[in-house]
Amino acid sequence: MTAAAAVHVPGHLIDGQWTGPGHDLVATNPAHPHEEVSRAPAGDAATVEAALDAARAAQPDWEATPAPSRGAVLHAAADRLAGDADLARLITREQGKTLTDATGEVSRAVATLRYHAERARAPEGETYAAATPGERVHTVRVAVGVVAVITPWNFPLAIPTWKLAPALVHGNAVVWKPAEQTPAVAAHLAEVLMAAGLPAGVLSMVLGDARAGTCVVDSDIDAISFTGSVPVGRQLLARAAPRGVRVQCELGGHNPAVVLDDANLDRAADAIVAGAMGSAGQKCTATRRVLVDASVHDALLERLVARCERLVVGDGLDPASDLGPLIAASARDDVLAAIAEAAQVGGDIVTGGVAPLERHHDGGHYVAPTIVSLPAEPEQLPRLWREEVFGPVTVVRAASGPDEAFALANDTAYGLSASVHTASLAHARHAVSVLRAGMISINGPTTGAELHAPFGGLKDSTAPAPREQGTAVRDFVTTTKTVSVRDPEA
Ligand code: UN1
Repeated sequence: MTAAAAVHVPGHLIDGQWTGPGHDLVATNPAHPHEEVSRAPAGDAATVEAALDAARAAQPDWEATPAPSRGAVLHAAADRLAGDADLARLITREQGKTLTDATGEVSRAVATLRYHAERARAPEGETYAAATPGERVHTVRVAVGVVAVITPWNFPLAIPTWKLAPALVHGNAVVWKPAEQTPAVAAHLAEVLMAAGLPAGVLSMVLGDARAGTCVVDSDIDAISFTGSVPVGRQLLARAAPRGVRVQCELGGHNPAVVLDDANLDRAADAIVAGAMGSAGQKCTATRRVLVDASVHDALLERLVARCERLVVGDGLDPASDLGPLIAASARDDVLAAIAEAAQVGGDIVTGGVAPLERHHDGGHYVAPTIVSLPAEPEQLPRLWREEVFGPVTVVRAASGPDEAFALANDTAYGLSASVHTASLAHARHAVSVLRAGMISINGPTTGAELHAPFGGLKDSTAPAPREQGTAVRDFVTTTKTVSVRDPEA
């Protein structure tokens, strides 16, 4: 296959200008690792400082712009992104997911931009009675100032959009550090927002790796919204929170699916396979553990295996592929090592496994959809049981009824999402009260959040701050002032 041409990344975006000496960071196609997709410069403290200066200078005028006009910029960006098939192809080449998933990601970004554009017209505050005659009390919302946005590679368009859009529409300036693996998708979004009419400096984008991210965290910003791993999120919190910086972290997950004895097993199997294997398991909401009532364990396992074995693994640009490659060779090796370790400690690899699928696939970083079945009372638990291993692998374990299943589901430091499959309203209600997860799906997958509903976890999956997405995010990107007004003549 001839390699497609590399995409030109114009550089960092600082004060409306594209800049960037050097293009040191090379992003390659995970399906064809010899194919260079893009090259980007690596930002440093000076780049971040320039971005921050531009943001500080631009923010007051942007906040003074009427909110519906700010919303109009987001609508114009949505118009430019809608149906952009080239962008979907770029997502697949740079990130690896299937074209169907990438096309869905573009649609989601468009819907997210439109949703937040309309939030510009939402009521801004509340009014209250006052104890003093002639006085009225009301609240107004103001932007927090300059918001830093640090985003991962697994949703290179959707996650940036759901962080940038609310920050911008509520009058903030943004300094954005996208993932080093996906700079071309990031630059495309930044270009679209500029072309849609965002004034210079309101959005700056600093490309680079973790070092650039650290420079952003250490800079004089007012808030940070981050999606990534727990260790990085915790470090970021420790560095920024003591300075009074607001920190919103969406970190990892170890999301359980509980299947009770009255569940519709076909539907449960569909949801579990979609949740565990979709985007090759590279979602923080992916289904990592299945806790199934012992009486239906074998029947469920059979269905899961049959579905996994029907999935086609290959280049995301091939319409036949259901699963693309993992983002990097190191990611694939980590997933394969975790599967091997599970087998060593007594897990049964019922489908998939450790054989790398690269021989037939041009060296792409593939892992077959893998299910590891654990004994009901394992002597030793594999790494897969506790750690977030980011790939198409899930662990199945029998439980002796709902109480044990829910207890096992909660046996994790994470608390992002969970699903429960049951025909019983009583079990469903009980699950919602006992499961320690920020998002709970009854009879659906652990993945696939609605863009207008709050998104976020409990326990180690989050940090103490308002949720992302939906109306909830406004509390993160704004602050309120309480204003009391007395009539001077009264
Ligand atoms: C989804 O399940 O559709 O990084 C979204 C992630 C999450 C987004 C998941 N923040 O995977």
